[in-house]
This record gives sequence, C-alpha cells and structure tokens, in this order.
Amino acid sequence: MAVQSVESTPSASVSLGPAVALSCRECGERFDLGPIFACASCFGPLEVAYDLPAGDPEGLRKRIEAGPNSIWRYAPLLPVPADVADKPNLNPGLTKLVKADNLARELGVTGGLYVKDDSGNPTHSFKDRVVAIAVEAARAFGFTTLSCSSTGNLAGAVGAAAARAGFRSCVFIPHDLEAGKVVMAAVYGGELVGIEGTYDDVNRFCSELIGDPLGEGWGFVNVNLRPYYGEGSKTLAYEICEQLGWRLPDQIVIPIASGSQLTKIDKGLKELIALGLVEEKPYKIFGAQAEGCSPVSTAFKAGHDVVRPQKPDTIAKSLAIGNPADGPYVLDIARRTGGAVEDVNDAQVVDAIKLLARTEGIFAETAGGVTVGVTKKLIEDGLLDPALTTVVLNTGDGLKTLDAVAPTTGPTATIRPSLDAFRAAGLAG
Ligand SMILES: Cc1ncc(COP(=O)(O)O)c(C=O)c1O
Ligand SMILES: [Zn+2]
Repeated sequence: MAVQSVESTPSASVSLGPAVALSCRECGERFDLGPIFACASCFGPLEVAYDLPAGDPEGLRKRIEAGPNSIWRYAPLLPVPADVADKPNLNPGLTKLVKADNLARELGVTGGLYVKDDSGNPTHSFKDRVVAIAVEAARAFGFTTLSCSSTGNLAGAVGAAAARAGFRSCVFIPHDLEAGKVVMAAVYGGELVGIEGTYDDVNRFCSELIGDPLGEGWGFVNVNLRPYYGEGSKTLAYEICEQLGWRLPDQIVIPIASGSQLTKIDKGLKELIALGLVEEKPYKIFGAQAEGCSPVSTAFKAGHDVVRPQKPDTIAKSLAIGNPADGPYVLDIARRTGGAVEDVNDAQVVDAIKLLARTEGIFAETAGGVTVGVTKKLIEDGLLDPALTTVVLNTGDGLKTLDAVAPTTGPTATIRPSLDAFRAAGLAG
C-alpha cells in the first residue's frame, strides 16, 4: 500500500482544536498532524492524539449540554476547529436513543433496551458523523477533491458533505450495490464511479490512486484522512452516554464492516471515563456481522488473533468488507470487555429488520437487521445478559435496501373500492 511520507507533509502548523498529533496504535510513535494514515516506522495505523480539557468534568458537561444539537457539541473532544459549527457542513448527530420496550419484551430483555437510531442523520446513516470530521481535516490540509471507497452509505455521505462544503467529489463503489445506495451517492452531483469488483477491490484501487500523481489534492476520507474520519464514530459513544444521563451502558451491539466504528466507540467511552464525564464501570462491546461476510466473527469464535479475509456474499452489502482493516482491534476489544462477535444469515437479517419495524416503528437497512439479529442470537446463546442495560445500533435507513424485504413485504390485500370487497377480505375489525 502506498504511504505518504511524514516528512513530505507540511502540516505542523495545522490547527484542529484539541488534536495535537497522530500516534501509532502499534508502536506509539508520534507524527505531526497531516494526511497520513500509516506509521513510517512500523506501518501500524495512526490515530489522533489530544490535549483534552481535563480537570473540570462538571464545567465540561455543562459546556457540552449548552452546545449545538449536533455532534459539534462535542467539538472540545474532536479534531475540529472551535468554530466548526459556523462552517458549511451537514451538522449530523444527536440522533434519537429510542427506549425499545416492545422489542425488549419480545427478546426478554429486562435491564433496559435502547436503539440508537442513526438513520436520522442527514444522509440516513452514521457515515455523516465520520465524513463531517474528515471534511474539517480536508479543509485544513488544503484538499480540493473529496473521495472514498464505499460500500454505499459512505459514498452518499461524502457526496452530500462535499456539495454543502464546496468540494469537488469523486467516489468509488462496487458496481453491484443496491439502487437506493447508488441513487443516494449520485444525486448530490459529484462523480460516482462503479468498479467491477468487490469493496476490497475498490479499496485497493483507491490506495493505488493515492500513491499516483492522479490523486494529487485528493482527500480520501477513509484512507489518507482515516485517522480523522474514525474519530467521528466517537460521537456515538458520547451521545449514548449523555442520553442515558451521563451513564455508561452495560452492553453495546455494533455492526462491523472495517471495524472502525466499533473501535472508535470504545475509544470514546474510554475518553469519557478518563475525563470524569461518566463514572467508571465495566461495559461489554459486541460486534455483529452477516454470515456471508464474517471474517471477524469467524476469527473470534476460533480464538484467533488474525483475521483471515473472505469473499463476501450477503444481502448486507454495507457490511461486505472481506478484509477489514480494524479486524484485529475489534477482536481485542470484544475479548478485553467480555463481549463477543457473532453473525446471522440473510434470512435472519430480514426477520430482524421486520422485528424492529413491527415492534418499534424503526425501519432499518440490512446493517441494522444484522445488529438486531445478532442481539437476538446473543441473548438466546446466553452471551448477552438480558438483565443489563443494552444499546443496539441502527446505523442506516431501510429505504436504501428495499430489495431485502420487498419480496416478503407488501399489501395484505388488493381489493375493489367497495365495502363488500373489504368485508370479503376478512380485514374488518
Ligand atoms: C450502515 C452501516 N453500518 C455500519 C457500517 C460499519 O462501518 P465500519 O467500517 O466502521 O465497521 C457501515 C460501513 O459502511 C455501514 O454502511
Ligand atoms: Zn508504529
């Protein structure tokens, strides 16, 4: 994979709020803030290091609560300038944390079950969070084109954010995505390129493009801006805890594609504890995959530390990453916290989409079906404790994956416009 050298990045003067450096997850070496994503010494992934506002948790809590109704209320904990809320962006976040009592009854959860419904974001997936942070980094580094490799949702989020923020966009997707995802990615007027291959082929192509003069001036939100992009998922952890009354949940179930979201939610929870914003107590993180693309759950169940790549074949296309970059870190987190990684088959995904819709009035995309389906399975297998407070993520909107449920969902009856016909259909009363 092509890696831009640290020395060639003139960004020591870049100002991104409390972010002070990039640090290597593997060896801890530090680098100046810049559009780099791999350690020049050991090739480990880089993440943002901060000088966070410690020492006055009550004051910080009040400052956050008085902030904007978006992820920007957490700007003091993110790699963004202090005036970020005044810049043209989509202001994602502060989505609903739904107390899912009906679903809890069906699943036998007694300790409180919540659905964090991120389909309420501007382009109807959690990807608006990560893109919003990457856009600020792209501005700071002087990029003019925003790009990404995407399983669908990210392409739409980048297209929309670029349109609003005044960037050119050119995004890459596997050629065979759902129509809803393709239209959402194209409608904002940027370039959309379908690649004949899987997501992993798209990702490889983008890595090549970054190393080529053709990619000059391009900010790939999930490649050369990945350290910043990933930080956006921390806001899910912040919001969940704030919405629970500044309390940690006991258990969280999170879908996995690359594994970035899961690892950054864990990072966010640890920051809240370190800053004294929540009281420390144990929490368990569970990962959810589709059986047809389950490299991480397969490794988890086999007790392996390495993740063997798979060729995806599932209706959960947004999670269809066969070679997940953060897979090993997900395994660490699930094991460290006492969680697990599990998978469900496509029929169970469809059943779970319908279960969530029928019980809570929330229409999830296939990724949400995976997460709810895995939650059910974990409870049945005794791995998730129904007596504990549990948060399940719905990361995307069912309107983007209609094909998953259309064959088994439709009108109860089609009748002539007459009372006789209605009576005959047996639906009265
Ligand atoms: C709806 C949805 N949920 C979850 C994910 C998983 O994201 P990550 O790659 O951070 O694991 C994706 C990724 O594309 C997604 O589109
Ligand atoms: Zn390193």
